[in-house]
Amino acid sequence: MNNNSGVKDSQYNKKNESIKYKSFIIAANWKMNKTMEEVCSFIERLNSFEWNIKNKVILFPSFPYLIFLKQLLKGKKALCGAQNMHWEDSGAYTGEVAPAMLKDLGCRYCIVGHSERRNILLETDNMINKKILSAIKNDIVPILCIGESIKERKNNTYKSTIMRQLKEDLSGLSPEKAEKLIIAYEPLWAIGTGLNANAEQVYEMHQYIKWVLIELFGNIASSKVPILYGGSVKSSNVKDLAIIENVYGFLIGGASLKIEDFLSIIKLLE
Ligand code: PGA
Repeated sequence: MNNNSGVKDSQYNKKNESIKYKSFIIAANWKMNKTMEEVCSFIERLNSFEWNIKNKVILFPSFPYLIFLKQLLKGKKALCGAQNMHWEDSGAYTGEVAPAMLKDLGCRYCIVGHSERRNILLETDNMINKKILSAIKNDIVPILCIGESIKERKNNTYKSTIMRQLKEDLSGLSPEKAEKLIIAYEPLWAIGTGLNANAEQVYEMHQYIKWVLIELFGNIASSKVPILYGGSVKSSNVKDLAIIENVYGFLIGGASLKIEDFLSIIKLLE
Protein backbone atom coordinates (compact mmCIF):
# COMPACT_ATOMS: atom_id res chain seq x y z
CA MET A 1 0.00 0.00 0.00
CA ASN A 2 1.55 3.33 -0.91
CA ASN A 3 0.87 6.59 0.84
CA ASN A 4 -1.20 8.26 -1.81
CA SER A 5 -4.99 8.24 -1.84
CA GLY A 6 -4.99 9.59 -5.35
CA VAL A 7 -7.03 12.53 -4.07
CA LYS A 8 -5.53 15.86 -5.06
CA ASP A 9 -6.73 19.14 -3.60
CA SER A 10 -7.74 20.18 -7.09
CA GLN A 11 -10.17 17.24 -7.15
CA TYR A 12 -12.24 18.87 -4.44
CA ASN A 13 -15.11 19.80 -6.65
CA LYS A 14 -17.75 20.79 -4.12
CA LYS A 15 -19.85 17.80 -5.19
CA ASN A 16 -22.35 18.65 -2.49
CA GLU A 17 -24.65 15.97 -1.11
CA SER A 18 -28.09 16.94 0.09
CA ILE A 19 -28.46 16.79 3.87
CA LYS A 20 -32.03 15.59 3.36
CA TYR A 21 -30.92 12.27 1.93
CA LYS A 22 -28.03 11.55 4.28
CA SER A 23 -28.22 9.81 7.65
CA PHE A 24 -26.03 11.34 10.31
CA ILE A 25 -24.62 10.24 13.63
CA ILE A 26 -24.73 13.22 15.99
CA ALA A 27 -22.46 12.32 18.91
CA ALA A 28 -22.15 14.53 21.99
CA ASN A 29 -18.82 14.15 23.77
CA TRP A 30 -19.41 15.85 27.13
CA LYS A 31 -15.88 15.03 28.30
CA MET A 32 -15.46 15.75 32.06
CA ASN A 33 -18.35 18.20 32.22
CA LYS A 34 -21.87 18.55 33.66
CA THR A 35 -23.35 18.05 37.11
CA MET A 36 -26.26 15.70 37.81
CA GLU A 37 -28.62 18.67 37.73
CA GLU A 38 -27.28 19.80 34.36
CA VAL A 39 -27.63 16.29 32.95
CA CYS A 40 -31.26 16.24 34.12
CA SER A 41 -32.28 19.55 32.60
CA PHE A 42 -30.47 18.75 29.32
CA ILE A 43 -32.30 15.42 28.96
CA GLU A 44 -35.64 16.92 29.90
CA ARG A 45 -35.35 19.32 26.96
CA LEU A 46 -33.94 16.69 24.60
CA ASN A 47 -36.70 14.18 25.44
CA SER A 48 -39.38 16.69 24.52
CA PHE A 49 -37.78 17.39 21.15
CA GLU A 50 -38.63 15.34 18.04
CA TRP A 51 -36.06 14.82 15.32
CA ASN A 52 -35.97 12.99 12.02
CA ILE A 53 -35.56 9.26 12.53
CA LYS A 54 -32.85 9.15 9.82
CA ASN A 55 -30.37 10.67 12.28
CA LYS A 56 -28.95 8.97 15.37
CA VAL A 57 -28.21 11.07 18.46
CA ILE A 58 -25.71 9.51 20.89
CA LEU A 59 -24.71 11.11 24.21
CA PHE A 60 -21.38 10.37 25.89
CA PRO A 61 -21.56 11.42 29.56
CA SER A 62 -18.98 10.77 32.29
CA PHE A 63 -19.16 7.26 33.79
CA PRO A 64 -21.07 8.16 37.01
CA TYR A 65 -24.04 9.41 34.97
CA LEU A 66 -24.30 6.56 32.47
CA ILE A 67 -26.91 4.48 34.25
CA PHE A 68 -28.84 7.56 35.31
CA LEU A 69 -28.83 8.90 31.75
CA LYS A 70 -30.00 5.56 30.45
CA GLN A 71 -32.99 5.74 32.82
CA LEU A 72 -33.80 9.33 31.85
CA LEU A 73 -33.72 8.37 28.17
CA LYS A 74 -35.95 5.34 28.62
CA GLY A 75 -38.30 4.96 25.70
CA LYS A 76 -36.87 8.04 24.01
CA LYS A 77 -34.84 8.19 20.84
CA ALA A 78 -31.39 9.29 22.03
CA LEU A 79 -28.77 6.63 22.72
CA CYS A 80 -25.82 6.76 25.05
CA GLY A 81 -22.25 5.56 25.11
CA ALA A 82 -19.07 5.65 27.19
CA GLN A 83 -16.07 7.91 26.74
CA ASN A 84 -13.61 5.11 27.47
CA MET A 85 -13.26 1.45 28.45
CA HIS A 86 -10.51 -1.03 29.34
CA TRP A 87 -9.72 -3.91 27.01
CA GLU A 88 -9.74 -6.68 29.63
CA ASP A 89 -12.94 -8.42 30.72
CA SER A 90 -12.10 -8.00 34.44
CA GLY A 91 -9.12 -7.86 36.77
CA ALA A 92 -6.84 -5.72 38.89
CA TYR A 93 -7.11 -2.44 36.97
CA THR A 94 -7.97 0.17 39.60
CA GLY A 95 -10.07 3.00 38.22
CA GLU A 96 -10.91 1.24 34.96
CA VAL A 97 -14.25 0.10 33.51
CA ALA A 98 -14.68 -3.24 31.71
CA PRO A 99 -16.63 -3.67 28.46
CA ALA A 100 -18.96 -6.18 30.15
CA MET A 101 -19.94 -3.48 32.67
CA LEU A 102 -20.90 -1.16 29.81
CA LYS A 103 -22.84 -3.97 28.19
CA ASP A 104 -24.68 -4.56 31.47
CA LEU A 105 -25.92 -0.98 31.30
CA GLY A 106 -27.11 -1.47 27.74
CA CYS A 107 -24.42 0.89 26.55
CA ARG A 108 -23.66 0.05 22.93
CA TYR A 109 -21.10 2.70 21.94
CA CYS A 110 -17.69 3.74 23.22
CA ILE A 111 -15.28 6.50 22.16
CA VAL A 112 -11.81 4.98 21.72
CA GLY A 113 -8.50 6.78 21.20
CA HIS A 114 -9.67 10.35 21.69
CA SER A 115 -6.68 12.70 21.33
CA GLU A 116 -7.08 13.88 24.92
CA ARG A 117 -6.55 10.29 26.07
CA ARG A 118 -3.68 9.78 23.63
CA ASN A 119 -1.90 12.98 24.65
CA ILE A 120 -2.78 13.62 28.29
CA LEU A 121 -3.22 10.02 29.47
CA LEU A 122 -0.55 8.65 27.13
CA GLU A 123 -2.66 5.97 25.45
CA THR A 124 -0.66 4.27 22.73
CA ASP A 125 -1.86 2.86 19.41
CA ASN A 126 -1.23 -0.59 20.85
CA MET A 127 -3.59 0.07 23.78
CA ILE A 128 -6.15 1.58 21.41
CA ASN A 129 -5.92 -1.49 19.20
CA LYS A 130 -6.65 -3.76 22.18
CA LYS A 131 -9.67 -1.60 23.08
CA ILE A 132 -11.02 -1.74 19.53
CA LEU A 133 -10.75 -5.55 19.39
CA SER A 134 -12.29 -5.90 22.86
CA ALA A 135 -15.16 -3.49 22.14
CA ILE A 136 -16.16 -5.39 19.01
CA LYS A 137 -15.85 -8.74 20.79
CA ASN A 138 -18.27 -7.36 23.40
CA ASP A 139 -20.81 -5.98 20.90
CA ILE A 140 -19.87 -2.39 21.64
CA VAL A 141 -19.47 -0.10 18.63
CA PRO A 142 -16.17 1.76 18.97
CA ILE A 143 -15.90 5.31 17.68
CA LEU A 144 -12.21 5.39 16.83
CA CYS A 145 -10.78 8.92 16.91
CA ILE A 146 -7.83 9.70 14.68
CA GLY A 147 -6.23 12.99 13.73
CA GLU A 148 -2.99 14.81 13.13
CA SER A 149 -1.25 17.51 15.19
CA ILE A 150 -0.68 21.04 13.92
CA LYS A 151 3.01 20.17 13.43
CA GLU A 152 2.12 17.18 11.25
CA ARG A 153 -0.30 19.30 9.24
CA LYS A 154 2.31 22.02 8.71
CA ASN A 155 5.14 19.70 7.74
CA ASN A 156 2.85 17.79 5.40
CA THR A 157 3.05 14.41 7.19
CA TYR A 158 -0.62 14.41 8.19
CA LYS A 159 -1.62 11.64 5.81
CA SER A 160 1.08 9.30 7.07
CA THR A 161 -0.09 9.95 10.65
CA ILE A 162 -3.63 8.98 9.70
CA MET A 163 -2.38 5.93 7.82
CA ARG A 164 -0.26 4.83 10.81
CA GLN A 165 -3.12 5.30 13.28
CA LEU A 166 -5.57 3.35 11.12
CA LYS A 167 -3.14 0.50 10.46
CA GLU A 168 -2.03 0.15 14.09
CA ASP A 169 -5.36 0.83 15.79
CA LEU A 170 -7.21 -1.59 13.51
CA SER A 171 -4.57 -4.29 13.36
CA GLY A 172 -5.95 -7.85 13.55
CA LEU A 173 -9.48 -6.81 12.62
CA SER A 174 -11.25 -8.92 9.97
CA PRO A 175 -13.33 -7.16 7.28
CA GLU A 176 -16.43 -8.65 8.91
CA LYS A 177 -15.56 -7.07 12.26
CA ALA A 178 -14.47 -3.81 10.65
CA GLU A 179 -18.09 -3.30 9.55
CA LYS A 180 -18.95 -2.57 13.19
CA LEU A 181 -16.65 0.45 13.37
CA ILE A 182 -17.27 4.17 13.35
CA ILE A 183 -14.32 6.45 12.60
CA ALA A 184 -14.06 10.07 13.75
CA TYR A 185 -11.55 12.30 11.97
CA GLU A 186 -10.57 14.91 14.54
CA PRO A 187 -7.56 17.06 13.67
CA LEU A 188 -5.98 18.04 17.00
CA TRP A 189 -5.61 21.67 16.00
CA ALA A 190 -9.40 21.92 15.55
CA ILE A 191 -10.43 20.42 18.89
CA GLY A 192 -11.71 23.01 21.33
CA THR A 193 -10.00 25.81 19.41
CA GLY A 194 -13.02 27.30 17.65
CA LEU A 195 -11.14 26.73 14.38
CA ASN A 196 -12.67 23.87 12.40
CA ALA A 197 -10.97 22.19 9.44
CA ASN A 198 -12.26 23.81 6.26
CA ALA A 199 -14.43 22.01 3.71
CA GLU A 200 -11.51 21.26 1.43
CA GLN A 201 -9.44 19.75 4.25
CA VAL A 202 -12.38 17.67 5.51
CA TYR A 203 -13.13 16.45 1.99
CA GLU A 204 -9.51 15.48 1.40
CA MET A 205 -9.14 13.63 4.71
CA HIS A 206 -12.46 11.79 4.59
CA GLN A 207 -11.62 10.62 1.06
CA TYR A 208 -8.20 9.54 2.26
CA ILE A 209 -9.57 7.65 5.29
CA LYS A 210 -12.07 5.91 3.04
CA TRP A 211 -9.28 4.91 0.69
CA VAL A 212 -7.16 3.49 3.55
CA LEU A 213 -10.18 1.55 4.84
CA ILE A 214 -10.77 0.07 1.38
CA GLU A 215 -7.08 -0.97 1.21
CA LEU A 216 -7.32 -2.58 4.65
CA PHE A 217 -10.77 -4.18 4.53
CA GLY A 218 -12.07 -4.04 0.97
CA ASN A 219 -15.01 -2.21 -0.57
CA ILE A 220 -17.89 -3.98 1.14
CA ALA A 221 -16.74 -3.58 4.75
CA SER A 222 -15.53 0.01 4.18
CA SER A 223 -18.85 1.08 2.70
CA LYS A 224 -20.45 0.27 6.07
CA VAL A 225 -18.10 2.40 8.18
CA PRO A 226 -19.42 5.92 8.81
CA ILE A 227 -16.72 8.57 9.00
CA LEU A 228 -17.55 11.44 11.36
CA TYR A 229 -15.82 14.79 11.59
CA GLY A 230 -14.94 16.37 14.96
CA GLY A 231 -13.26 19.63 15.93
CA SER A 232 -15.08 22.88 16.71
CA VAL A 233 -18.34 21.77 15.09
CA LYS A 234 -21.11 24.28 15.80
CA SER A 235 -24.40 25.45 14.36
CA SER A 236 -22.64 28.01 12.17
CA ASN A 237 -20.47 25.45 10.33
CA VAL A 238 -22.30 22.12 10.58
CA LYS A 239 -24.33 22.52 7.38
CA ASP A 240 -21.29 23.30 5.24
CA LEU A 241 -19.50 20.25 6.64
CA ALA A 242 -22.52 17.94 6.36
CA ILE A 243 -22.83 18.31 2.58
CA ILE A 244 -19.28 17.02 2.02
CA GLU A 245 -18.95 13.58 0.45
CA ASN A 246 -18.12 10.85 3.01
CA VAL A 247 -19.13 12.96 6.01
CA TYR A 248 -21.74 10.96 7.88
CA GLY A 249 -21.88 12.72 11.21
CA PHE A 250 -20.10 14.66 13.88
CA LEU A 251 -18.38 14.19 17.23
CA ILE A 252 -19.20 17.37 19.07
CA GLY A 253 -17.57 18.63 22.26
CA GLY A 254 -18.16 22.26 23.29
CA ALA A 255 -21.33 22.78 21.22
CA SER A 256 -22.96 19.68 22.74
CA LEU A 257 -22.89 21.04 26.27
CA LYS A 258 -25.67 23.61 25.92
CA ILE A 259 -29.02 22.18 24.91
CA GLU A 260 -29.89 25.20 22.69
CA ASP A 261 -26.67 24.80 20.67
CA PHE A 262 -27.10 21.03 20.43
CA LEU A 263 -30.75 21.23 19.35
CA SER A 264 -29.96 23.75 16.67
CA ILE A 265 -27.32 21.35 15.25
CA ILE A 266 -29.85 18.50 15.28
CA LYS A 267 -32.39 20.71 13.47
CA LEU A 268 -29.87 21.77 10.83
CA LEU A 269 -29.15 18.14 9.98
CA GLU A 270 -32.78 17.17 9.30
P1 PGA B 1 -14.92 20.31 20.23
O1 PGA B 1 -14.45 18.84 20.70
O2 PGA B 1 -16.20 20.16 19.49
O3 PGA B 1 -15.08 21.09 21.51
O4 PGA B 1 -13.82 20.85 19.38
C1 PGA B 1 -14.57 17.74 19.86
C2 PGA B 1 -14.00 16.51 20.51
O5 PGA B 1 -13.06 16.62 21.30
O6 PGA B 1 -14.50 15.38 20.28
